[in-house]
Amino acid sequence: MRRGLDHFPFPVMAERAWTQFYIPGGKPASASYKTLPMHTKDTPRELSELCILANFVEVFLAREGHDNPVGINYLEKIQIPHLPSLYGAMLGGVGYVLMGAGVPLKIPGVLNLLSCHRPATYPLHVTGAEGEDDTTMTFVPAEFMERDLAPLARPKFLAIIASNTLAATMLKRANGRVDGFVIEGPTAGGHNAPPRGKLQLDEAGEPIYGERDRVDLATIRELGVPFWLAGGYGSPQKARESLAAGATGVQVGTAFAYCAESSLRDDYKQAILAKVVSGDARVATDSLASPTGFPFKVAQLEGTLSDRDVYSARPRVCDLGYLREAYKGPNGKIGYRCPGEPVTVYLSKGGKLEDTVGRTCLCNALVATIGQPQVRSGRYVEKGLVTSGDDLSGIVRFLPQEQPIYRAADVVNKLLEG
Ligand SMILES: Cc1cc2nc3c(=O)[nH]c(=O)nc-3n(C[C@H](O)[C@H](O)[C@H](O)COP(=O)(O)O)c2cc1C
Repeated sequence: MRRGLDHFPFPVMAERAWTQFYIPGGKPASASYKTLPMHTKDTPRELSELCILANFVEVFLAREGHDNPVGINYLEKIQIPHLPSLYGAMLGGVGYVLMGAGVPLKIPGVLNLLSCHRPATYPLHVTGAEGEDDTTMTFVPAEFMERDLAPLARPKFLAIIASNTLAATMLKRANGRVDGFVIEGPTAGGHNAPPRGKLQLDEAGEPIYGERDRVDLATIRELGVPFWLAGGYGSPQKARESLAAGATGVQVGTAFAYCAESSLRDDYKQAILAKVVSGDARVATDSLASPTGFPFKVAQLEGTLSDRDVYSARPRVCDLGYLREAYKGPNGKIGYRCPGEPVTVYLSKGGKLEDTVGRTCLCNALVATIGQPQVRSGRYVEKGLVTSGDDLSGIVRFLPQEQPIYRAADVVNKLLEG
């Protein structure tokens, strides 16, 4: 973080974060992390600054030691931090912006404006809002710039899609250039697009995907923009297959999530790799876990929230709030709610009881999964939740003989065989 912040173009802002958050030697394991205010439509300046800084550092560090382009991925659904986050990533020289989990029609135009340090806006989805309600978020780079900067390179924009219709809509209706698509199938790690039509579940409670969920690549090819395939493409055979189908490449997540360089908590990583080797690795598509309402892939692992008992023992708390839904309250003001928050609180905000069932606090869980669990009153330590694609057991192909771990380069080299 220090190395990144030292290269940040606005040193006063970097120093402010450093002074406020740095604890020499780290926090004691039993101490809680400082909490921040949660994002709202008119987000406090402090949060915008942290978004700018965090995204800058993330991209800066990823760009060290090579000349290849670095992309950054956002979920459209997490709308409030978009503008400052994109600006921070662009200050860091991000080459690609990828976005799924929603319809990112307004992002290409934002990239154009931010590359010239011009004010940009983004529409916040507010449930129950009507035409005359002001739901527009505005970000003015000049309010954060401590000096003039030359225009920034406009990153390429790739929309992550799971249907032909969405690809066509993006090209027709986006407010700027869409440079390509990542076509992600329902076997991919992380969030998945729900099946089209009425949600049907199999005996294990997992969503059933059918013919209508298949993306027709011939139609995609006719659109004339580059595309990458994602979801079970982390093998030389699938890489070769995707090139043969006209793709520019593949997008791979699961294979990299377990490599030595991944920041997944080490005990989780070792435990899953042991299951992979013994043939016991299992991934479920959980249609309830994510507060977003999208199906979410969950690797089954004892001691994490995939374990019923661990899930039930967690006191419901909402203090990060990235997945909160904005809604118009009876008083006409914008409120924020999450089906993963304490049930009574959610109901008091007009939420429906059935929407709270099985919901997991992904915000706290995923932060815990990368080894930074919140500690509550010195007693309850947040538990993680591991996400992986359906091809989890396939990562055995990257494990060198007799060795319990592989490196990112092993994955890349293996894929290049294809
Ligand atoms: C641990 C993990 C986290 C992920 N997080 C995101 C995410 O935040 N946003 C996103 O669009 N995709 C996310 N994905 C999906 C990947 O970007 C990629 O499309 C997917 O993993 C490809 O399929 P595969 O898992 O079979 O390799 C994630 C995947 C994994 C395994």
